[in-house]
Amino acid sequence: MTGGPVLDPASIVGDGALPPRARFTTDAPVLSLNGSWRFLLSPSLADAPQGVGDPGFDDSSWGTLEVPSSWPMAGHGAPAYTNTVFPFPVDPPHVPDENPVGDLRRTFSWDGGPAILRLDGVDAAGEIWLNGHRLGSTRGSRLVHEFDATAALVPGENLLVLRVTQWAATSYLEDQDMWWLPGVFRDVTLQSAPPGGLDEVVVQADWSDGAGLLRVDARTRDGATATVAVPSLGLEGLEPGVAHRVEGARPWTAETPDLVDVVVTTGAETATLRAGFRTITIEDAQLKVNGQRIRIRGVNRHEHHPDSGRVVPAATMRDELLLMKRSNVNAIRTSHYPPHPDLPGLADELGFYLVDECDLETHGFLHVGWRGNPSDDPDWEPAYVDRMTRTVARDRNHPSVILWSLGNEAGTGGNLEASARRAKELDPSRPVHYEGDWSSTYVDVYSRMYAHQDEVDAIGRQAEEPLPDAAADAHRRALPFLLCEYIHAMGNGPGGIDEYEASFRRYPRAQGGFVWEWLEHGIRRRTADGREWFAYGGDFGEPLHDGNFVADGLVDADRHPRPGLADVKKAYEPVHLAVTGDAVAVENAFDFRGLAGLALEWRVEGTDAAGSIELPDVAPHETARIPLPDPARGDGVVTVRLVTTTPSPWAPAGHELTFAQSGAQPVPAPPEEGVAPVVDGRAVTLGPARFDGATGRLVALGDLPLPGLDLTLWRAPTDNDRGVGTDRRDRGLPSDADGWQREALHRLRRRLVSVTAAGSALEVVTRVGPAATDAHVVVTERWTSDGAALGLDVTVEPHGDWPFGWARVGLELLLQFRPAGIAWDGYGPGQRYPDTGGSQRLGSWTVGDLLELHTDYVRPQENGSRSGCTRLDVGAPGRGFTVTGDGFSFTASPWTSAELAGAAHPIDLPDATDRCRLVLDLAEHGIGTASCGPGVLPRHRLDARRVTGRLAFTPR
Ligand code: GAL
Repeated sequence: MTGGPVLDPASIVGDGALPPRARFTTDAPVLSLNGSWRFLLSPSLADAPQGVGDPGFDDSSWGTLEVPSSWPMAGHGAPAYTNTVFPFPVDPPHVPDENPVGDLRRTFSWDGGPAILRLDGVDAAGEIWLNGHRLGSTRGSRLVHEFDATAALVPGENLLVLRVTQWAATSYLEDQDMWWLPGVFRDVTLQSAPPGGLDEVVVQADWSDGAGLLRVDARTRDGATATVAVPSLGLEGLEPGVAHRVEGARPWTAETPDLVDVVVTTGAETATLRAGFRTITIEDAQLKVNGQRIRIRGVNRHEHHPDSGRVVPAATMRDELLLMKRSNVNAIRTSHYPPHPDLPGLADELGFYLVDECDLETHGFLHVGWRGNPSDDPDWEPAYVDRMTRTVARDRNHPSVILWSLGNEAGTGGNLEASARRAKELDPSRPVHYEGDWSSTYVDVYSRMYAHQDEVDAIGRQAEEPLPDAAADAHRRALPFLLCEYIHAMGNGPGGIDEYEASFRRYPRAQGGFVWEWLEHGIRRRTADGREWFAYGGDFGEPLHDGNFVADGLVDADRHPRPGLADVKKAYEPVHLAVTGDAVAVENAFDFRGLAGLALEWRVEGTDAAGSIELPDVAPHETARIPLPDPARGDGVVTVRLVTTTPSPWAPAGHELTFAQSGAQPVPAPPEEGVAPVVDGRAVTLGPARFDGATGRLVALGDLPLPGLDLTLWRAPTDNDRGVGTDRRDRGLPSDADGWQREALHRLRRRLVSVTAAGSALEVVTRVGPAATDAHVVVTERWTSDGAALGLDVTVEPHGDWPFGWARVGLELLLQFRPAGIAWDGYGPGQRYPDTGGSQRLGSWTVGDLLELHTDYVRPQENGSRSGCTRLDVGAPGRGFTVTGDGFSFTASPWTSAELAGAAHPIDLPDATDRCRLVLDLAEHGIGTASCGPGVLPRHRLDARRVTGRLAFTPR
C-alpha cells in the first residue's frame, strides 16, 4: 500500500516511550536483559515473518544472537561504510524495500512488580512487544528509550520481542561518518519502579562565591516525598526543589574532578548520584568554568570496536579515557551522538570536559544541494526536538558536560534553532554548540571545523571576515571560538598542529579544539595464514563507499597509539618548559591546579649526569625559573622531563607530562681531503670506496657491495598528500600527490653527464628527469676521502618547470640485505617530518629490525622518517657502515616507495625479508592535514629549489 500522510510522527520520533529522564542508579532491583536472544535476519519487511510479537509465534527455527551487538559483526549481513553519501536513494522519508530486519526474542522471569524497560541503543528503529502487548517503538539509534512495562509484565516467565529495521525515515538524520551497523548495540534493562519511588532526579550543582549551590529536583511516584543528603559534607534532610548553599564543597573542574555523593530518597527508593560543583559562563568572548577561561585540549570520540562494531566493552572505554588523560587530553566531543551512558560518569570521575552531541547528521543532503534537508522542514521539527530532549535529559546531571551540541553537519534551518531552544529550556545552565551554521545566531560558541591556521589566528584577534548581517556578526564576534574538529589524524600526520597551538596560547578567545579523531574504525580481519589486518570501506564489497576515510585516528582500532598521538600529547602539554642554559623556565598552563606533586627530571644525553628537582607549587598561569645544577649547564643536549611524583587515578608516579631539550648534538667533522681517486680501467677507488667509472656509481664501501645512490624526489603518497586540502582547492591546485604524479616524480630517469677525477675528488654529474618533458635536475656529487671515510658534497639544481614542488630530496640506496640493526643520533625514537614529530627528542637510538621503524598504517604510505640526524649506523654482520652529517633524515624500510604506494592494505605488501630501501634525505616536504583541512603550510613546503648536502660514509 502507498499513500497516507507523508510524515507520520511515529515514524520520526517513535511511540509509546516514557518522557526522557536521567539515568541514575538506585537501590531498586535491576534485571539485565543482555545475553543470548533468539534471532532471525530477513532481507526486508516483506520477507520478515508476521506476528513475531505474539507469544504463540514459533521461533524454534531461528538462530541466536548476543545482545548487545551489531549484527553484521556477528556474521549476519555485512558492515558498510559511507562518509557523507546516503547508501540509499535520497527519497525522504522513504527507505528502500531492501531493508534488513532483525527479529529478536527472549524470555526472562520477573516477580511481577512495576518496572520500566530501558533500551540504551537500538540501531536504527525498534518495535517492542512484551507478552504480546505492543509497548511502542524507538527512533534515534544512540538515544535512550524507556517504556512502562508494568501493565504487560506477569509474575514468572515473560516474553520480550524486538523487531529492528536497519533503515527508517530517521536514517536521514543519522548520516554520521561511520560504518552502517544495525543492531541492539547497547544494554537492555528492566528497572523495577517501586511504588512511592523515584521517577526522575535532576541535580543542579553550581559553584558560586566559593561555595557549592545544590538544587535537586525529584519527581516521585504516588505523591511520595523525597529528601536529599550529601553525607560527605554532613548535609541531611535537604528539601528538593530549592537551592542550598553548600559550604566546604570543592569545585569540580577537569583538572580537579572532585565529586560528592548526593543521596536522594523517598523511603521506598534511594538514588545515589555523583555531583560536581561548577558553573559554566560565557563572558568577554570566553567560555569559562567557575569564572576561569579554560583551554580545550580535545579529541573527537566515536564508539567503535574492531571486533564488535558499536559495542565497546566497559574496560576498553575506561582504558581509552585513561590513555587520553595520559596524553594531556582534557576534553571530548562525543561525535556525533550521545556516548554510551557510562561515559559521562567516567568523564566526571577522571576529569574531562564533554561536548555532548545530539544524534543528528543529515550530511547526505549536501549531494543534492541540500534539497529536502530535514533541518529546514517543519514536518521534521518533532524529531529534532525529541532527539535534543533525549540527549539533555539523559546526561544533564553530569558536571563533565559543559556544552550541548545540536548535532553535526546537518546544514541550516529552523529545526536546529528549535533544538537549541529546547536545550536551553531543559538546561539553562549550559551553552549550546553547533558548527554547521556559521551565522551562529542561536548558539553560544563560534565553532568551526578544519579552519586554516591563519583564519584561526584572525578569529582569535576578533578580526574575522564579517557576516553580511550586522546583528549576527556582532553576536558572533562576542562568542568564544573553538574548533570542533581540526588536524585530521588520517595516515601519516597530522601536521601543522603547532601553528594552531600558537593561536590558542596567544588569544583568550581561541580556546582550543578537538582533533579529528581519537580512534580509527578499522574492522579486524585475518588472512588464511592468520595475519591480522583492519578492513575499511569497500572491503565488504559495498558498491558505494569512502575507502579508508573511516580510519583517521590518533589510535588504531585496537587503541594502539599512532605517532600522531605523541605529537598531540606534546602540543597539549599543560605546562610549558624551556631550558635556558642554567635554568628551566616553567609556565603553568593548567587553568586550575598548581604544580605541587610534579618534578623536573634532567639528564645530559650521552652521560650519566642526571637528577631530579621537586617543583614548587607554581599557581595556574604563573611562571617560575628553576635553576639547573652545574652538571646540566654544559654544552651537550640537556633533556628535562616533567613527571608526576605521586600516582593518580590515571597514571602511576613517574608519568611524564611533557619535556624540553636544549643544546645540539655534536656534528662529526667531515673527512679531510687526503687521498686521491685511483682509476684502474673501469674501477675507481677512493679511500674505502669503489666506483664504477662507466656509470659514476658507488658500488662498494669496504667489503660491502652497494647498488649506487639514486636521487629520489618522491614518496609513497600519504593520505594527506592525496587530499586536495581546503587551501589548495580554493586556488584550483591539485593535491600534492596528484601534482607529483603530473611531474612524474615516481619515474625519474638518470643520465650520466660526466665522471671526473680531479685532484683529490671524484666528481660525478648526472641529469635526472622524467620522460616526456624537459624539466630535470642536475645532481653534482663531489666525492673525497681521508683514506678511512668517504665524503660526499652533493648539489641538486632544478631546471625547467616543477610547479608542484617535490616530496623530498633524497639519496636512495636499495640494499640487498636486511640490516641487523640500525642506530642513530638525532630525533627519535619515532618518525618526524618538517611539521610533525614535535614529540621526538634528540638522543641516541637503536632498533634491532627495520619493522621497528615502520608505521603500519591501514593503507600503506610514506612513513618512518627519522630526522635531525648526525650519525646513522646500518648494521650487517661484518659489513655495516656509518653515515654522518649535519642534520639529515633517513628512512629505512623493507619496501620501496612504489610498493608502499601500490598496496591497499599491509597484507598486500610483498614479502621483503632480505633487502632494505635506505633513503638519506637532504630535504623533505611537510605532512599537513589536507586529507581534510589545510595542506602543508608554506614554510613546510618543499618547492623545487637548489638543495645542497654534505655526508660522510665509513665502512665498519
Ligand atoms: C567532518 C565530519 C566528521 C568526519 C570528518 C572527516 O566533516 O564532521 O564526521 O567525517 O569530517 O573525517
